Amino acid sequence: MTQQLRLGLAGLGTVGTGVVKIIRSKAALLAARTGTDIIITAVSARDKTKDRGVNLSGYAWEDDPVALARRDDVDVFVELMGGTDGAARNATEAAIAAGKDVVTANKAMLAIHGQSLAKMAEDAGRLIRFEAAVAGGIPVIKALTEGLAGNEITRVIGVMNGSCNYILTRMENAGLSYEEVFAEADGLGYLEADPQLDVGGIDAAHKLAILSSIAFGTQVDFDGIELEGIERVSIEDIRHAADMGFKIKLLGVAQKTGRGLEQRMMPCLVPDTSTLGQLDGGTNMVVLEGDEVGQVMLRGAGAGMGPTASAVLSDVCDIARGVRLPTFGQPAAQLLKSTPARSVLPAPYYLRMDLMDKPGALAKVASVLGNAGVSIDRMRQYGHSEHTAPVLIVTHKTTRSALDEALAAMQGTDVLASTPVALRIENV
Ligand code: NAP
Ligand code: HSE
Repeated sequence: MTQQLRLGLAGLGTVGTGVVKIIRSKAALLAARTGTDIIITAVSARDKTKDRGVNLSGYAWEDDPVALARRDDVDVFVELMGGTDGAARNATEAAIAAGKDVVTANKAMLAIHGQSLAKMAEDAGRLIRFEAAVAGGIPVIKALTEGLAGNEITRVIGVMNGSCNYILTRMENAGLSYEEVFAEADGLGYLEADPQLDVGGIDAAHKLAILSSIAFGTQVDFDGIELEGIERVSIEDIRHAADMGFKIKLLGVAQKTGRGLEQRMMPCLVPDTSTLGQLDGGTNMVVLEGDEVGQVMLRGAGAGMGPTASAVLSDVCDIARGVRLPTFGQPAAQLLKSTPARSVLPAPYYLRMDLMDKPGALAKVASVLGNAGVSIDRMRQYGHSEHTAPVLIVTHKTTRSALDEALAAMQGTDVLASTPVALRIENV
């Protein structure tokens, strides 16, 4: 007799309705692949009367997701409501306490409470699976946890927020300001209800924190991420970076250094001919580097109904097949607390400054950089306006602390017409 796996689905928005559609339309395929009939027994959302464009008949309704999580006819609780705390966390904990496995797409909850939830689940002998939480439809959690299990991971790097990549590429392609494209993206519904989660880099940093934990065997440490959003990226910098052969991306990077775990989510320059440089629009890309395998690049839809529901089904199918893995790839009790290291590893930097157009101005800047041990690789001076001259510098590899020393000393000269812009260049 075929087995059954009974899902309780909390959240019937973009992702939840996508999951309902797949389970209704691909029941035979899923059963063939897992040897199990995957069915939904009960659902929950805030508004029972809302027309969601999917057939919910045959499913019990619960107003309270915690009650749904505890139902006897639910084997797996699927949390698709979102939010760091509140209903999502309460219901997830209730599900584990009631002996259910959990599938979630909720990166915000895992980035903040991942360690305690993992511990709780493992103590109870339950699973928390979250393929959809990072990079939507891209199977990056599976790749990292299973496919690359034989590697020391040396670096994780990627574009993990489609909305930011859309904004940056649209600014470049249409020559529009950040403010103009932000308004456009908001109008098109591309941004989270709280857009700061996207443009402030927070959503992408949640994802990076989760990947770091699996990659480096450390406890999820969202607070350890050096975080900067895209709000201050100007069309001038996008144009100048393009002139120098670069694109600006909101880039997440995690790597171990001698001083601890470096995790950064910030606008960076990447070579325009690189695969990451060529990544346009809302697409995501994650690059995983392992000591044995080298570089693995995963590219695809980071959001949207179909891609995200596809990732949820990957977890559900694994549970149906009997795959049982610790939440972050190894038991939560073994995960080490990381020491955060901030921009320790040297890198080249892009500098843009407006200099007063007077004799010796450029020499003063060069000397301040030299005194801090920052060496210039390339420099370009653009058409002067009435009293100032925009100057672009690409440095050789330097530490962030040496650069900061130079930038502070520059403020003490009388040659700057505005605060310089400094962006890290990441070679991929
Ligand atoms: P959404 O469209 O806003 O849907 C959220 C759903 O949760 C709605 O059905 C809402 O009910 C329900 N809900 C919210 N609070 C609730 C509560 N207290 N009790 C019961 N139900 C509640 O969100 P979504 O885009 O589907 O995202 C869901 C999760 O997937 C989030 O964690 C998100 O970060 C993650 N995710 C989304 C995407 C994407 O492309 N959308 C991609 C990756 C990951 P009502 O409909 O009645 O208001
Ligand atoms: N706001 C997110 C993005 C949704 O733009 O990538 C998927 O997490």
